[in-house]
Amino acid sequence: VLSAADKTSVKGVFAKIGGQAEEYGAETLARMFATYPQTKTYFPHFDLSPGSAQVKGHGKKVAAALVEAVNNIDDIAGALSKLSDLHAQKLRVDPVNFKLLGQCFLVVVAIRNPAVLTPEVHASLDKFLCAVGTVLTAKYR
Ligand code: HEM
Repeated sequence: VLSAADKTSVKGVFAKIGGQAEEYGAETLARMFATYPQTKTYFPHFDLSPGSAQVKGHGKKVAAALVEAVNNIDDIAGALSKLSDLHAQKLRVDPVNFKLLGQCFLVVVAIRNPAVLTPEVHASLDKFLCAVGTVLTAKYR
């Protein structure tokens, strides 16, 4: 469960990311595909080569969903309900992959914005990404 302090930290991170969210999203995906190639199996219909327009476009969508979750941090399940249906019922993404994507996002924040990622903020952001992953994998049964 996200504490009030976690919520404040997560909002602070996204305020710093601001208009660069799309780039963070694209870099997160590029890192995930390179570091954990098994994640590529869900995207057989995508061009996954470096700099791919499809990866950029998808990064934008993923980032927008994260921003949506931050903007509705007291009701992430409600805010991402449709995406939860999609990932659980249609895409059937194995839940382990959400951890991998979350870790890659943390790395991107750490590289692009090292000052923001104090140990406390790192922990809060990790909790938030886990919460998003939990919501997106909640409807499997
Ligand atoms: C589609 C968000 C994790 C695989 C999407 C879409 C969004 C999204 C916004 C587009 C939905 C639409 O077009 O209506 C997220 C978020 C994630 C996450 C916020 C976690 C923080 C993952 C993971 C995988 C994955 C871990 C697999 C490794 C896919 C696939 C699609 C998709 C295959 C469909 C792509 C297409 O054909 O356009 N996701 N996703 N997602 N996601 Fe995720």
